[in-house]
Amino acid sequence: MRRMETPNHPLPPRLQAFVRQLEHAVAHAGGEAPLLSRARALLRDLVAHDDWLPAPFARPHPQHYQQYLLHADAAQRFSVVSFVWGPGQGTPIHDHTVWGLIGMLRGAEESQPYARDARGRWHPHGPARRLQPGDVEAVSPTIGDVHRVRNALADGVSVSIHVYGADIGRVRRHVFTEEGAAKPFVSGYANTAVHP
Ligand code: FE2
Repeated sequence: MRRMETPNHPLPPRLQAFVRQLEHAVAHAGGEAPLLSRARALLRDLVAHDDWLPAPFARPHPQHYQQYLLHADAAQRFSVVSFVWGPGQGTPIHDHTVWGLIGMLRGAEESQPYARDARGRWHPHGPARRLQPGDVEAVSPTIGDVHRVRNALADGVSVSIHVYGADIGRVRRHVFTEEGAAKPFVSGYANTAVHP
């Protein structure tokens, strides 16, 4: 499976409308705070209905979570991705380096923010947030960029729709150990090759 959008397969109408409105917001919002506010409202509308995501983009992998590219802005100003979590799957502690929004579509996921102490070790920062269908959470280097995410369902698949302020599969970012070691990573996508 390759990209969702091809000449023969346009985006599902709800996603198409979201992308068009987000294009407008990115072009006109004027700064991260107003953009996140507008994009959060758009994403909340998108995940208010769970009737549009084609099954191939909601398919779990037995060993690890999947990240499917749904749409990449031609100017790389944003990307839209479906995250599919099998039972018990989760991420290491990681950053994004750009703004990001997580909209819960199906199931539930738990996001735990992390902060670094004076010795460079990472600790949970505040309570974990459990996202239910319709909920939206934001990350960015300005408002808090480091967290760990996991499927909150021990026996079911969860799906969330993520939006980032870049073509996130190509972004050089980091995973961290709790002791503070950083490892660079580029996530790529499960459904399309990335050529940096
Ligand atoms: Fe994340």
